[in-house]
Amino acid sequence: MNQITIFGATGYTGRLIVKALLAQGFPPSELCLAGRSSKKLNNLADELHIRPSLLTVDALQPTTLPTLFHDTRLLINCVGPFTDYGEPVILQAAQRGIHYLDITNELGYVHRVHRFDNIARKSGATIIPACGFEVVLADCAVSLLSKKFSGTISDVHITYTLGGSGSSIGTRQSAIRSLATSWLAYRDGEWIAVVPGREVRNAPLPSGKLATISFPSSETVTIPKHTNVQNIGTWMTINPFLRPWARHAVPVFAWLMRRPPSQWILQAVSVFQPPKSGMRSKAPFSIHVEVEQGSVKRTMIIQGKGVYDLTAEIAVYTALHILGSHTEQAGLLAPAEVVNSIMLFDYAHKNWGLQIKELA
Ligand SMILES: NC(=O)c1ccc[n+]([C@@H]2O[C@H](COP(=O)([O-])OP(=O)(O)OC[C@H]3O[C@@H](n4cnc5c(N)ncnc54)[C@H](OP(=O)(O)O)[C@@H]3O)[C@@H](O)[C@H]2O)c1
Repeated sequence: MNQITIFGATGYTGRLIVKALLAQGFPPSELCLAGRSSKKLNNLADELHIRPSLLTVDALQPTTLPTLFHDTRLLINCVGPFTDYGEPVILQAAQRGIHYLDITNELGYVHRVHRFDNIARKSGATIIPACGFEVVLADCAVSLLSKKFSGTISDVHITYTLGGSGSSIGTRQSAIRSLATSWLAYRDGEWIAVVPGREVRNAPLPSGKLATISFPSSETVTIPKHTNVQNIGTWMTINPFLRPWARHAVPVFAWLMRRPPSQWILQAVSVFQPPKSGMRSKAPFSIHVEVEQGSVKRTMIIQGKGVYDLTAEIAVYTALHILGSHTEQAGLLAPAEVVNSIMLFDYAHKNWGLQIKELA
C-alpha cells in the first residue's frame, strides 16, 4: 500500500512537496503521484529519477476521483481552487477513513467543509484543510499565546507581510475564488457575513505602524476550534498610499468576482506563466500575531523566507506526524489540534530558519 498520495503533484507546490518528502528519505516505492496529465507525471518521475506509482485523475471528472483513495493511507491535495474542486475530494476522504490534508487558504471552502466533521469522526480520518504557510504558523502561535491567559480571549489579530513578487497560477486563481466566496468574519463568538477588504487598520508592528487591509484567511475557522475567543481579525500589509481607496476597491472587486466577468479575470490571470523555480523562495515574510484579553496583550512575530517552500515543508511535517502518530485524532481539525505547536516552532527554527520571537 502507498503511504502518501500527492494530488496535483505536477503543480508548483506539489513538486516542492514531492521533493521535500524525498529529502526526508521517504521511500519512492510508498509514494503515489496523482495529476490530470500522465505525460507530466511521467516527466516528473523521470526528472527526479524515481519510480513511484502514478495515477491520472481529473478533478473535473468526478468518476476518476475514487482511484485517489484505493491504495493510500494519506492524501495531500494541492489541486485548487479548492472552492471549485476541493469538496468532493475531502468528502470522499472523510467517508473512506483516509487521512487528508490540503494547502488551501480559501476561507469559504474551509468553513463549508467543516460540516463533514461527523463523517470523518465516524470513519477515523484525520483531516486538516488549510495546512500551508498561511494558517498553520499563525494557528499554532495563537494556540501557544492563548494558553498564557485564563478565560476568554477578547481579540486576535494576525497580520501577514509578504515580500517579493511572483505567484503561481493556482495561487492567483484561488485568491480570486476566495474573494468571491469568503464573505465571512468572526465577531462576538460567531461567524457573520462580511464583505472582504472593507476594514483597514494601522497594525502596531515593531517597525512602526503599518497600513493593513482585512483579507479572508482560514484562521477565522481554525482558531475557534481550540481557543475560546470573541473576535478574529486577519490582515495583509499594504502600501500606505493604497490605504484611502483599497477599502473601497477590494469590496467592489470581490463583488465583481461573484458575477460573470470573473470567468474572464480567472482566464486572464492564467496567461502570464510564473517563473519555473525560485518563486518567492528568497522573499522575506513576517507574521505578526496579537492575542488580547482586555488591555493585556501578548505578541509573537514569525519571520522567514520562501512561502512556497515552507508550505511544502509544513505539509510534509504534518503528513509524517499523522502517519507516525499512535493516538490518531479523527475529524476535521485545526493544525494546532494535531501538531504540537512548541515542537513545530522548535523544528521550524532549526530546520527552516524561522525566527520566532515572543515580545515582552
Ligand atoms: N496556504 C498557503 O500558504 C499556500 C501556499 C502555496 C499554495 N497554496 C495553494 O495551493 C494550490 C496550488 O498552488 P500551486 O502553487 O501548486 O499552483 P499551480 O502550480 O497552478 O498547480 C495547480 C495544480 O492543480 C492541478 N490541476 C488544475 N486543475 C486540475 C484538474 N481539473 N484536475 C486535476 N488537477 C488539476 C494542476 O495540474 P497541471 O500540472 O496538469 O496543470 C497543478 O498540478 C492553490 O490553491 C494555492 O492557493 C496555498
